[in-house]
Amino acid sequence: MLIDQLDFAKMYQDHMQKAQRSRKEPEHWDKKAQKMAQTCANPHDPYLIHFRELMDFTDAETLLDVGCGPGSVCLNLANQLTSVIGIDYSQGMLDAARERASALNINNAQFEQLAWEDDWTHLPKVDIAIASRSTLVDDLKAALLKLNRQANLRVYTTHTVNPTFIDENIIHSIGREVVRLPTYIYAVNILHQMGINARVDFINSSDNSGFASVDAFIDSVNWSLKNLTTDEITKLHQYYAQHISSGKRIPYPSRTWAMVSWDVVDEASLTL
Ligand SMILES: C[S@@+](CC[C@H](N)C(=O)[O-])C[C@H]1O[C@@H](n2cnc3c(N)ncnc32)[C@H](O)[C@@H]1O
Repeated sequence: MLIDQLDFAKMYQDHMQKAQRSRKEPEHWDKKAQKMAQTCANPHDPYLIHFRELMDFTDAETLLDVGCGPGSVCLNLANQLTSVIGIDYSQGMLDAARERASALNINNAQFEQLAWEDDWTHLPKVDIAIASRSTLVDDLKAALLKLNRQANLRVYTTHTVNPTFIDENIIHSIGREVVRLPTYIYAVNILHQMGINARVDFINSSDNSGFASVDAFIDSVNWSLKNLTTDEITKLHQYYAQHISSGKRIPYPSRTWAMVSWDVVDEASLTL
């Protein structure tokens, strides 16, 4: 089979189903909002700095941030634009975003509760549309098309590069099955098949310092894998002890993100 005979949009949907990654409910994110407002939204975070550096603001005055969370990206860019709009389906995230906007004295940012899957026709068209770390949707082609439709100039999206959030050896060590999620490579291929030539850049935020304690290590694994059992926690203690006793550190999970961006293409000339 040749590559152009593959339907990447359908393959992505099949991959999501195989990974049994069903749509998470907004409440899942509500609980994370306050913590994310401190971690992911820190303006000195290398991810946010690099994200901004990779953007072209030429002729841009307005921006839409989809899955904006605590406003990590849109609030970090608000001083460069006339107005920004953040949308997210989690009320907790929107509350955190509004609190941050007022604490930062930013008054050109608006937030609205909207999901990827909702109707966005009432939203104004913007110059730049972005979706940062919020692209693991059920239908990626529909999402990318919506961003292209909403923007006049450019679109910036970020996606995972690695198929798992933590080292597969750790997942094996506790006897769980490794679930690999779709990565940025689908986005590049889906866009290509629609007739959009995307740029790809990488944002590296690896931290080699290693976990400060066994509890921090277990917390991090629990964040990714959820509902660790007592038996699994015991195995993680053993895993940690083995590494430390042989003089190794367990590095933080590598969070390399791929930025997939493009100049907006008129929908009439796309292959849909
Ligand atoms: C990992 S956070 C990223 C937040 C922010 N964009 C950043 O880069 O820090 C993912 C965000 O996507 C939002 N989200 C997930 N699924 C969504 C959906 N179907 N519609 C709208 N927002 C969604 C979550 O509520 C969460 O705020």
